[in-house]
Order: sequence, then C-alpha cells, then structure tokens
Amino acid sequence: MRLGQAGYRVFIGSRSEDKARKTAYELTESLRRSGLSPILEGAENAKVAAESSLIFLTIPFEAARDLLESVHSMFRQGTVIIDATIPLRFTQGRVETMELEDGSGSEHLSKFLPDSCILVAALKTISAQSLADIHVPLDCDEFVCGDSPEGKIQVIKVLSRIAGLRPVDAGSLKEARTLERMTALAIGFNRRYKVKSARFRVVGL
Ligand SMILES: NC(=O)c1ccc[n+]([C@@H]2O[C@H](COP(=O)([O-])OP(=O)(O)OC[C@H]3O[C@@H](n4cnc5c(N)ncnc54)[C@H](OP(=O)(O)O)[C@@H]3O)[C@@H](O)[C@H]2O)c1
Repeated sequence: MRLGQAGYRVFIGSRSEDKARKTAYELTESLRRSGLSPILEGAENAKVAAESSLIFLTIPFEAARDLLESVHSMFRQGTVIIDATIPLRFTQGRVETMELEDGSGSEHLSKFLPDSCILVAALKTISAQSLADIHVPLDCDEFVCGDSPEGKIQVIKVLSRIAGLRPVDAGSLKEARTLERMTALAIGFNRRYKVKSARFRVVGL
C-alpha cells in the first residue's frame, strides 16, 4: 500500500492467483477512497518473479528457501530481492531469533538466488501494523544492508519515497544478524508496552 501510495506499479504475489487479484483489488479500492490512483495488480509468485525488477520477499522465513528455489530460473538479470523475512521462533509465548549456521536469515537465503540477482535486507524492523495505516506518517528509520552498493542505492531510493520513512545504510549483509535480533526486540517492546508499532530511529545522523 505504501508503495502504491508513492506511485509505484506494484504486483502482489501469492501462491494463488485468485487470492492475489482479490487482495490487489481490495487494496486498490482502499487507496482510491483516500483519493489516490494506485496501480496494484495480483499474480502468482512465479509471474511476479519473472516480471519484476525489484521484489520484496515477505513470506514466512521457513517457506522462503522453497519459494526462491521454485522460481530460481525465472528471475530477470539484475533483479534486486529485498528480504524482509525474519527467522523467528515463538515458543511458550516467547519470541527468539533462530541460530543459523549462515549467521542470519538473509545470508542464508542469498545462497538460493541466481548469481545475477542481488539480495538486500530491509524492512525487517518495521511492523505490518505501522505500514498498514497509510494516513499515519511513519517517522522512523528503516535499515538497509547488503553486499552490493548498487543494490542498496536502488532500495534506498525506493524506500525514501515512502512518506516519513528514512532509509539508513546499515552496512554489509552481515548486519542482517543485528537487524533480525532488533525485530525480536521490537516485538518484546510491543508486548511489554501493549502497543503494535514499536520501531526505531537513529539520532545524530
Ligand atoms: N508482520 C510484521 O510485522 C513483520 C515485520 C517485519 C518482518 N516481517 C517478516 O515478513 C514476513 C511476512 O510476515 P507476515 O506477518 O506478513 O507473515 P504471514 O502473514 O504469515 O505470511 C505472509 C504471506 O506469506 C505467504 N505464505 C505463507 N506460507 C507460505 C508458504 N509455505 N509458502 C509460500 N508462501 C507462503 C501467504 O501468502 P499466500 O497465501 O497469498 O501465498 C501469506 O499471506 C515474515 O518473514 C516476517 O518475519 C513481518
């Protein structure tokens, strides 16, 4: 919705084309009621992979490897994948980050992309609830990390079009290890303070 609001043409991917189209229709109607003219379309994940130059990976971490492998041959040359997934485990009411051999979920998933694609980690520390109400300015930072300077520049350019969001270059892909733990921290803030939109802002930049 925030990207539609910013004027981007957005494909919403799903395992089900019907579900994707329905979601795109509902979100389009919702944005139109706010006086906007978004271009949102729904399609199966494979079509989104084949037709997009910038892809946001927003499915459960546990399912991401399978999805990336299933659409591996369909990505365009130079596609930038923005990995928002978090390897979290919820046990007995507690949330914790999974310990992964590769260090972070993003470093792990980067192994399942074609060499011609670029993985950038971003949108890991902002909640869906914060993004959903397009009338509320975000007034926060979003951390962008990755090993490709060109990839990070592209992502920072797109995210800076979202009102109130300041994209911050957080360094190499290894920094995803920290960002993924910050998500668990934010979920803890939300729980303890009984809110839904705890998020981060760096001062002094
Ligand atoms: N929610 C947040 O506030 C938040 C914040 C930061 C990061 N994240 C991360 O963003 C990702 C998405 O979070 P979410 O809360 O939106 O998760 P979600 O609601 O559980 O899943 C999002 C979508 O993923 C698809 N999906 C579910 N299981 C799948 C599978 N086995 N294979 C392929 N696709 C599957 C489903 O779409 P279809 O049924 O249409 O295929 C579903 O609507 C997660 O990795 C999460 O850690 C979430």
